[in-house]
Amino acid sequence: MNLYSIAVIPGDGIGIEVVPAAIQVLDTVAEIHGGIRFDWTHFPWGCEYYLQHGTMMPQDGIDTLKSFHQIFLGAVGMPGLVPDHVSLSGLLLKIRRELEQTINVRPAKLLHGMKSPLAAPQDFDILVVRENSEGEYAEVGGRVHRNGEEMAIQSAVFTRKASERAMRYAFTQAAKRRGHVTSATKSNGIAYSMPFWDDVFREVSQLYPDIQAASNHIDALAAFFVMKPHVLDVVVASNLFGDILTDLGGAIMGSIGIAPAANLNVERTYPSMFEPVHGSAPDIAGKGIANPLGQIWTSKLMLDFLGHEDLGEIVLGAMEDTLDDNVKTADLGGTANLKEVTERVIEHVKLRA
Ligand code: NAI
Ligand code: MG
Repeated sequence: MNLYSIAVIPGDGIGIEVVPAAIQVLDTVAEIHGGIRFDWTHFPWGCEYYLQHGTMMPQDGIDTLKSFHQIFLGAVGMPGLVPDHVSLSGLLLKIRRELEQTINVRPAKLLHGMKSPLAAPQDFDILVVRENSEGEYAEVGGRVHRNGEEMAIQSAVFTRKASERAMRYAFTQAAKRRGHVTSATKSNGIAYSMPFWDDVFREVSQLYPDIQAASNHIDALAAFFVMKPHVLDVVVASNLFGDILTDLGGAIMGSIGIAPAANLNVERTYPSMFEPVHGSAPDIAGKGIANPLGQIWTSKLMLDFLGHEDLGEIVLGAMEDTLDDNVKTADLGGTANLKEVTERVIEHVKLRA
């Protein structure tokens, strides 16, 4: 029996609604499988906590999290009560940084039962591996002459260690998929960092002779997402490029309410964190109408990372069965609520067992 202790941070807004739905699905999967069990420990950290305590999480919060296998998070943010830069940096970004979750993984795939703007939608199935710790988002730079002709300098940081780590992860994932990795570059316009990125990519690709490797400039690659997604399998990208490509992928999937994500500590020194792409959606919070599929798909990524890819497939399959039944929330043009979608997914998990 594998017992997984999971730290649960529902957070704010619809996070409080979609997290219990996904937990129900995972508990059903565990029940059916028999060989795994989840021990969920809930932490009420978020904006309400901030209003009471003046911090988003306790002083020793990070140390507390280190004792868990993984972290399952909903969404953080109540922009009406706490400024976003305070709430996100005090919880989400702090966890990502201090637990060295250096890779961000976001599958973008058109599920059965979903409508897409693409010409050949059945081909849309891409895994973006985004370097999550440096690149264009490094905190290096400054602003000067604030009272005069102000100027700003922002430097991008590319280390061999972090670039290689993201690329190696991309190649190992491609081996489990269609065997193809595309690197997002821009070495025709960025003179130092991107040629370096290309060199590292070339070196890493030689370690995986069975995987096909390609390199495309980010602007062309963005167009490929729409025009010929079938040429893409796994895409490895720097922090900024990955950020943009994953929003594009999310849009092509049909709703931000279904897009999943994982922040991985690939060395497994610390727990990784699994959270959907969407935020706390204050506009629909508390109404029971949020789409739980993003959080449920996210739970599939957690199963995969724990080594239970077979069970992850059951969860994704049950989601597609639910969409095929046309049991959909309003963001997908349906009339079902969160509870109805969750119950249908659970039924299909049982049928697929
Ligand atoms: P959002 O993702 O919360 O909402 C954008 C739009 O998508 C809204 O109209 C919302 O109703 C809809 N939506 C999102 N998730 C949905 C779901 N599961 N089902 C149905 N509809 C859904 O982004 P927004 O409004 O920019 O941000 C709201 C708050 O969330 C802010 O405080 C923001 O900082 C925070 N945020 C937190 C993130 C995180 O915790 N990882 C990520 C993005 C935003
Ligand atoms: Mg983004």
